[in-house]
This record gives sequence, structure tokens and C-alpha cells, in this order.
Amino acid sequence: MLNKENVLEVLKDVIYFPKGDNIVALNMVENLMVNETGVRFDLIVEHLDDPKNDIMVNAAKRTLTDVFGEINVDVKVKEQETSLSKVKHIIAVASGKGGVGKSTVAANLAVALARANQRVGLIDADIYGPSVPMMFGAEDEQPACFEKDGKAVMVPLERFGIKLLSIGCFVDPERPLIWRGPMATSALNQLMNDTLWGELDWMVVDMPPGTGDIQLTLAQQYKVTGAIIVTTPQKVAFADVLRAANMFKEEALQIPIYGLVENMAYFTPSDMPDKKYYIFGKETGQQFADQLGVPLLGQIPIVEKIAECGDNGTPLALDADSPVTKAFDKIAHSVLNSKL
Ligand SMILES: Nc1ncnc2c1ncn2[C@@H]1O[C@H](COP(=O)(O)OP(=O)(O)O)[C@@H](O)[C@H]1O
Ligand SMILES: [Mg+2]
Repeated sequence: MLNKENVLEVLKDVIYFPKGDNIVALNMVENLMVNETGVRFDLIVEHLDDPKNDIMVNAAKRTLTDVFGEINVDVKVKEQETSLSKVKHIIAVASGKGGVGKSTVAANLAVALARANQRVGLIDADIYGPSVPMMFGAEDEQPACFEKDGKAVMVPLERFGIKLLSIGCFVDPERPLIWRGPMATSALNQLMNDTLWGELDWMVVDMPPGTGDIQLTLAQQYKVTGAIIVTTPQKVAFADVLRAANMFKEEALQIPIYGLVENMAYFTPSDMPDKKYYIFGKETGQQFADQLGVPLLGQIPIVEKIAECGDNGTPLALDADSPVTKAFDKIAHSVLNSKL
């Protein structure tokens, strides 16, 4: 007899081979509806573009018509909801080496995007020196954790409307080296997948310097919209930047680049906010960007207050009057208007 129970029983003969179990046991059948003329249900898959989906749909149809005769079988393939399903863009903030201001750019860009009415999340993935918690005054706070379907799920912290989480929650800052390889990868996956991110327009990821396991994992397992490369204007910094930028563009990672941010581009003394001293040359950032073949998204001055604000938990881009804020607003707008 054609009813829900019997249909589910029959669908247990449809095996999803990659996982070695049937589609009912794997919870891949949802919204099942059965009436005299036919059956309809949603088949929940991991990726819509997986060629195995069609094979499953055909197997289900064949199995059902074999048992119930010429009934109408309507199967809708739907992608499984993940904690990132409602995150529109992932943006990686990267550099060739540490200390150039990656975290400063990531934090202030997140603030600037939020000021532009975007819903923003910020992940600190720098295993060598997680600093986002300190920059947002959250170093003593642990994310709340609860269990969902037998799995631990984290709730990101929230500051100034930005949802944040740091790999520093898992890593002993004194022993970053043991976090290379599989441990770093699994910590990143936990931050991405086992967290209630909800609806976000932008997920900003503060990357570790260079190109290692974290970069590879992010590129291979997630859909990264684009990367922002941070540099300082010294020639020595640029050699590393060039290497990192090329790795992002090349085969292994294949992450498009929004552009270059030149941090510490010029010096503005606090008592002379209109003065700009280009210590390393005014055109250096543009020259670097030209060599990389990417736009120069912005130039951030050396401002004592940036470091101060970074240390006391209120990113400077929150201060509407600071020239630094204008620079970050410009970068945010370039990102918002980018075609990546
Ligand atoms: N434009 C700037 N002006 C002054 N200090 C800065 C500026 N950018 C970064 N800093 C300071 O330099 C240090 C390194 O910056 P950080 O963003 O942590 O670099 P990274 O994440 O690349 O290692 C921090 O103490 C930060 O406050
Ligand atoms: Mg950093």
C-alpha cells in the first residue's frame, strides 16, 4: 500500500555509497508527502553540483516505481544547511609576514563593513599570534557552547555588532608550533562549521602569515570570495608579499584578490593630523599593487592611536572623526563594490 511508512521502508534500499548507508538512515529524506497518485520529497545533499545527486534521484525513482507501480515521484535536491549556508561572502585578510598589520586591517575592516550596515563576522585564524580577542576587549571571554544533534556548537562572541571567534580559544598561545598540520586544520573547521554564525553578509578571516595549512584548508574546503593582501611599504616586506599573493592566485589556492592595503604608508603626528610624511615614498604602495596586478585599496597611516585602540579593545575605525576611519571606509566600499 502506498503510504508514508511503506515509502520510507522502500527508500531504505537506496544506498548513498560514499557514506555506506541508506538515504533514510542518513537523514537525507525530508518533507516527504504521499498521496494516491504519487510521492514527493526533498533529498538533502552536501553539494548541489555533485554528479552523484542525479544517480540517487534516479535510484529512488526506480526503486519506488518497482514496488508501487507507475506512480509519480517528485524529488527536489536541496543543499544541506550548514553553519555557513547563510554567510554570503568569505574574505581572507592575508600577508607575507607577521607584524605588517593584518589583524589591524581585519578588525578595522570588519568595523567599517558593519558601519556600512553589513552583517559581519570575524574569525581570527592566526595560529601564530591570535590577537582579535584583545583588539575587541574579549580576551577573558569564552564562547558559549551547547550540544546540538550530539555535536558541540559554539556561539560567537559579539562586540560592536560584530560576531567574533578566535583560534586562540583552542590554541595555547605559548605553543603555536604544535598547532600546525591537522590540528590547525581541525581548529579552523570547528570555527567555521561548528559555530552558530547565522546570517552574515561578510565573514572576515584574519589569516596567519605566509601560506600553510590554514590557507590550504580555507581555499580547498570553503568558498572564499577573495583575499585582501596587507603590506607595509618597505621593499623587504614586499618580497614576502609577492610570494604570498602569487600563492593565493595560483593553482593550490585559486583565491581571487580584491587588492592590496598599504599599512603604515605614511606618518601623521597626533598634533598635526593634516600632515602626511611618506617615509618610504609616496608611490610605493601603488608600485607594489601594479607589480601584483591588483588595485591599491587603501593607504593606512602610522597612527599611535591604532596601536593604543588595538590594545584597549576598541578598534580605531569606531571613531568617526579619525582619518583612519575614512581610509577603512574607503576599503570597505571597494570591497562592497567589487565584482568578485
Ligand atoms: N597603521 C598603524 N599605525 C600604528 N601602529 C600600527 C599600525 N598598524 C598596526 N600597528 C601596530 O603594529 C603591531 C602589529 O600589527 P598587527 O595588526 O597585530 O599585525 P599582524 O596581524 O600582521 O601581525 C600592533 O601592535 C599594531 O597595533
Ligand atoms: Mg595578527
